[in-house]
Amino acid sequence: MYGSGFCRVYNEFGWNVYPEVFGERLLRWLDRNGIPVRTALDLGCGTGVLCRVLSAAGISASGVDLSEAMVAVARENAPGLRFDVGDMVTWRPERPVDLVTCTGDALNHLFGLGDVARVFENAAGYLTPGGVFVFDLLSEGEIPDDEPFVLRYSDTVSARFRTSREDGAVRLHIDVFEQDVLKFEEDILEKVHDIGAVTALLEKAGLTLMQCGHRLLPDEGADAATWFVAARKGTETGK
Ligand SMILES: C[S@@+](CC[C@H](N)C(=O)[O-])C[C@H]1O[C@@H](n2cnc3c(N)ncnc32)[C@H](O)[C@@H]1O
Repeated sequence: MYGSGFCRVYNEFGWNVYPEVFGERLLRWLDRNGIPVRTALDLGCGTGVLCRVLSAAGISASGVDLSEAMVAVARENAPGLRFDVGDMVTWRPERPVDLVTCTGDALNHLFGLGDVARVFENAAGYLTPGGVFVFDLLSEGEIPDDEPFVLRYSDTVSARFRTSREDGAVRLHIDVFEQDVLKFEEDILEKVHDIGAVTALLEKAGLTLMQCGHRLLPDEGADAATWFVAARKGTETGK
């Protein structure tokens, strides 16, 4: 998953808008909740955009991603920030961080709830006391039907998307064309997790649920089907 060719398309053709918008909202969310953040780690950081937004706000941000190709793009997008190749299930930063993020369905790339639990336990171990874990999660309502659709990114580049379901997971198959010639294919497999089961795992890991809903900020953005979840290390839930 996330080979080099696809990562370039991901980076150049609009997929970076999501972490950019999410990052700006997250900064306002932190501000409104009175949560001071000096250091942050983005799990499944992809092209490094969220780290770049956090860093521009004065936060020392770093990222980790399983895909070497994604990390290579992140290093280009945000030179000077640290990006590592690693598995969020086990990877640990050298020092504790005040904020952990995981966006763009990255947690849905883990198939077993056992792995999701290990991510939470791991993060609870390296979050500072009172630190927060903010993530999104794909919900059933977001999955497009099985009709293929084509997005034209430029005069020469287009992509055809097809979704199918298998064993409780969603497979997104993407064919990328240049001048109508198939350049490469990508398969992304995502598991739709039960939101109640996921929030229960947070509590088990020692992370207190602060909010779980279809918006991060109640007055910003349209209601998406995506879940936005925030949890805090310790028992305080903030303002
Ligand atoms: C859809 S992308 C989202 C990237 C970025 N967070 C964003 O919002 O644009 C999902 C990312 O999760 C990464 N990923 C999947 N499983 C992972 C794991 N076990 N550990 C670290 N990264 C993982 C993928 O390589 C991919 O870059």
